[in-house]
Amino acid sequence: MTGSGPEGSAQPRLGVVGRREVFVPASEGGPKARPSGRSSDQQRQPDQTDLEHLPASGPTASNREGDQVASATTGSCCAEAPFRYHDFAGLSAVVTGGASGIGLAAAETIAARGGRVAVLDLRVDDVADPLVGLRCDVSDDDEVRAAVAAAAERFGGIDVLVNNAGIGAQGDVAANADAEWHRVFDVNVVGMARVARAALPHLRRSTAAAVVNTCSIAALPARALYSASKGAVLSLTLAMATDHLPDGIRVNCVCPGTADTPWVGRLLDSAADPAAERAALGARQPMGRLVTAAEVANAIAYLASPLAGSTTGTSLAVDGGMYGLRPRPRSGSDQ
Ligand SMILES: NC(=O)c1ccc[n+]([C@@H]2O[C@H](COP(=O)([O-])OP(=O)(O)OC[C@H]3O[C@@H](n4cnc5c(N)ncnc54)[C@H](O)[C@@H]3O)[C@@H](O)[C@H]2O)c1
Repeated sequence: MTGSGPEGSAQPRLGVVGRREVFVPASEGGPKARPSGRSSDQQRQPDQTDLEHLPASGPTASNREGDQVASATTGSCCAEAPFRYHDFAGLSAVVTGGASGIGLAAAETIAARGGRVAVLDLRVDDVADPLVGLRCDVSDDDEVRAAVAAAAERFGGIDVLVNNAGIGAQGDVAANADAEWHRVFDVNVVGMARVARAALPHLRRSTAAAVVNTCSIAALPARALYSASKGAVLSLTLAMATDHLPDGIRVNCVCPGTADTPWVGRLLDSAADPAAERAALGARQPMGRLVTAAEVANAIAYLASPLAGSTTGTSLAVDGGMYGLRPRPRSGSDQ
């Protein structure tokens, strides 16, 4: 790894990057330096300011604030001490559909944790620093190849791919004509294959390579086409995870429940009673509320991180218990 600390560190440590606390795992040591493909000016060298040691006593003002703070309850030197991850330092990521919703939150999370991130999306005018916006339609192979090449050129490689761009479709199995089935699959499934195909040569050169696909807990009522496409994403994830074990590329997916994103906002806006529809969607989830984009983004970052180096071929539900739990419907006496 070029950015999160010296290799071979014997102990986990807490340090500071600017005002950001970093957790430097000991045994993993983070990903090792890319064997080839990055010029020296593209490699992020360890910064002497990265690893100023924190005082041994409890949390500081800066690590009590903001997000990305987790409680470290393992490791003798940092038991109970809050820390902030800087686990993507020195790594480069591509996030499709990263201009909105879950993709934007994932891109911002990885960047906040030290990664360089290119967002591939239909509209990138509003993509702000430090994210790099690259216009790309994932249903167009030439555009995909050009955008992935541009990201790799700019960063000197690609370590992480978040395959997130997706579109919806409503209705039962009879509701959509062939053209619509092909259009949705072309974005939701073939789009992921196109981007992965273009990114593979770069991922193979990384020693921290990870792909995270955005799947779904679907099947949902009146979502036959959409659910079929996400079922294909789940199978694609498992197939890719198997195929690319020898390449050292981990492949996982997240399965969000109904998440509060602009997509869902648009659906609510088109409902006859948006407030009632929002309440109904929340009530459908055992936790009684919509999932947040940040919660899905943190799950994506977890799977993409070198800290999850032994995790591949998994699907991680971020759904308020929607898929796995069967709670009794709430009644007045439960309140
Ligand atoms: N919001 C939910 O409830 C929910 C639940 C489960 C899964 N998902 C999945 O999460 C992903 C993101 O959804 P979201 O809710 O953040 O949606 P969103 O509409 O807020 O964001 C989707 C982004 O994908 C981009 N995009 C769409 N088609 C594209 C294409 N052909 N090429 C490139 N970019 C394209 C859009 O421009 C947009 O920026 C999707 O794959 C969706 O299926 C969403």
